[in-house]
Amino acid sequence: MSAVTSEAASDLSVLARAKVNLALQVTGRRADGYHLLDSLVVFASIADRISVAPAEALSLRVAGPFGAALAGAPDADNLVLRAARSLAGAAGIASGASIVLEKNLPVASGIGGGSADAAATLLALQRLWRVRPDPAALAGIALGLGADVPVCLDGRPCRMRGIGEILDPLPTLPQGWIVLANAGIPVATPAVFRARKAGFSPQLCLPAHFADFRALADWLRLHSVNDLEAAAVAICPPIAGVLAGLAAGPGCLLARMSGSGGTCFALHDDAASAAASAQRLSAQGWWARSGRLGGDPA
Ligand code: C5P
Repeated sequence: MSAVTSEAASDLSVLARAKVNLALQVTGRRADGYHLLDSLVVFASIADRISVAPAEALSLRVAGPFGAALAGAPDADNLVLRAARSLAGAAGIASGASIVLEKNLPVASGIGGGSADAAATLLALQRLWRVRPDPAALAGIALGLGADVPVCLDGRPCRMRGIGEILDPLPTLPQGWIVLANAGIPVATPAVFRARKAGFSPQLCLPAHFADFRALADWLRLHSVNDLEAAAVAICPPIAGVLAGLAAGPGCLLARMSGSGGTCFALHDDAASAAASAQRLSAQGWWARSGRLGGDPA
C-alpha cells in the first residue's frame, strides 16, 4: 500500500454534518406513496465522520457515542455500505475500502444521520477510488439511497422540493447558531408520514433576501411549519418536552422539530446562549449539542 500524505489523508476523512429542516411542508403525495415536500434545509457543524482507506474488500467499522445503536443491524440495511456498493457498481470498481464511521449523531432522529453518512461515503470513496461519475449518475445513486441523500451530497443550504431531488441552493441564507436536542427515542420516518393527519400545505413563499439571522427566524415562525411535528409528537410525546426545553432557553429565536423527528432545534444568534442552552438540556438528561449553522464545518 502506498503511503498517504497528510493532505490526502484528510481528503479521505469527510464530515457528515447534521441536516436540519428549518421548514418542512408536505405539499402532496405521489402515486408510489412518497410525499412531495417543500423544505428549507441547512447543515450544522455537529457531525458524524466517515474515513476511508484502501483495502481489497469492503468493510465498515462503526465507532463513536452512537455506534452501538447501529450494531446488529443487517449489512444490507446499512446506508454506508449501500452507498459504497452503489458507487462501486456504477463506476466499475473491483477493489474494496476499509470504512470507519464515527457516529456522533443520534440515529433515526430527523437530522439525516444515515443520509449524511451515505453522502459522505460517496464523496470519500470518489477520492479514494479516483472516480468521478457524471453528475446525473451520481444524483441517481444518491436518490436511490434515500430522499435526503441528494441534499446531503450537495451540502449547501438549499430549498428542497419533490421528494428530495429538486434542489435550489440558497448561498446567501444568513448564518447563525443552533442547538440540537433529542429525547433519546428513535422515531421511524415511515410511521411519522403515516400518522400525519392534516391535508397538504402550500408551497413556501420565500422572500428574495433575509436581512440577518433574526429576520430568517422571524420569517420561519410566521410563514412556515414542520408538517410532521404533530404526528411525531403523537408517536413520541417526549418530543413536546424537548421543544419546550429549547424554547425556554434564553436567546432562543425559534424552536422546531427537524425532519420526521425526534431531534428538535433552536436557533440563536449568538454562540454563548446556544452553548448555555445545550448545557442546560444535557443536565436534564437529554442529548443536546450546540454548533454553527451554515458556512463551513467548525
Ligand atoms: O427515502 P427514505 O428512505 O429516507 O424514506 C424513508 C421513508 O419515509 C419512505 O419509505 C417513505 O415512507 C417516507 N418518505 C415519504 N416521502 C418523502 C421521504 C420519505 O413518504 N419525501
